[in-house]
Amino acid sequence: MGRLEGKVALVTGAAAGIGLATAQVFASEGARVFLADIDGAGVEAASSAMNESGQSVIPLTIDVARGQDVTRMFRTIQADTGKLDVIVNNAGVNVRSDFRHLSDADWVRIREVNLDAVVRVARDGLPLLQASGRGSLINVASIMGHRGLRQLAGYSATKGAVLALTRALAVEYAAFNVRVNSISPGFIETAMTNRALRMPAIKKALVDRTVMRRLGQPAEIGRVALFLASEDASYVTGAEILVDGGMSASL
Ligand SMILES: NC(=O)c1ccc[n+]([C@@H]2O[C@H](COP(=O)([O-])OP(=O)(O)OC[C@H]3O[C@@H](n4cnc5c(N)ncnc54)[C@H](O)[C@@H]3O)[C@@H](O)[C@H]2O)c1
Repeated sequence: MGRLEGKVALVTGAAAGIGLATAQVFASEGARVFLADIDGAGVEAASSAMNESGQSVIPLTIDVARGQDVTRMFRTIQADTGKLDVIVNNAGVNVRSDFRHLSDADWVRIREVNLDAVVRVARDGLPLLQASGRGSLINVASIMGHRGLRQLAGYSATKGAVLALTRALAVEYAAFNVRVNSISPGFIETAMTNRALRMPAIKKALVDRTVMRRLGQPAEIGRVALFLASEDASYVTGAEILVDGGMSASL
């Protein structure tokens, strides 16, 4: 307990899944956490529950793909705490489609949320992380940034770009004491994977391909984010951490 005592963190996509679990882990370790999500009711409900249990969290209703929302988000954070130590760029969307049927609208939405917004949140948030003196930026990529799967080419393209962005920012911001790392989850049980996992054949195929013979839980990503956010990772920057139950290690 208390590994993030005195720290202020922002988690995007924090109403559900990996983002919510990460926010919960951070708050339980003493951080003041901003929960940002397009699902306003979701972050309000999550924040009420966490604040009632004595944690310190603030809900922010924002669409990370809208520049003015991101500007408002950082203004609110500055007005509230005047500082920010950790950003988890987690909000993401996925559309499954055979590549030849990937519509312009779907591709643009995937790119706007998974890549453009990650760039914008990083660009606008990094000055605050720099000012903190010991900042940590964590980008949530995906095993699909490292590997391919049918019907996920557009999603893979954005996640591969997030990996490249992370490395480049780690190089550029080391001089400012900001560490920049990515986490690439494998298959985690959340709303994003829910539809596919409801099909027993798909679930079995994924479990069979996972060395640990099970799917991951959101908190198992949250705890890796905690490591990267904390002083335990003081010498870790530019790292790509695959958290996939060994799936990518196996043929
Ligand atoms: N679940 C997995 O197996 C898995 C695997 C690899 C990577 N990821 C990545 O992890 C991250 C979280 O995914 P998840 O599985 O928890 O998904 P999820 O669908 O459970 O949660 C995503 C959250 O992001 C929010 N969101 C979506 N668009 C937004 C926007 N424009 N602005 C603000 N918030 C927005 C949603 O409202 C939701 O609360 C994503 O970046 C995803 O690509 C997930």
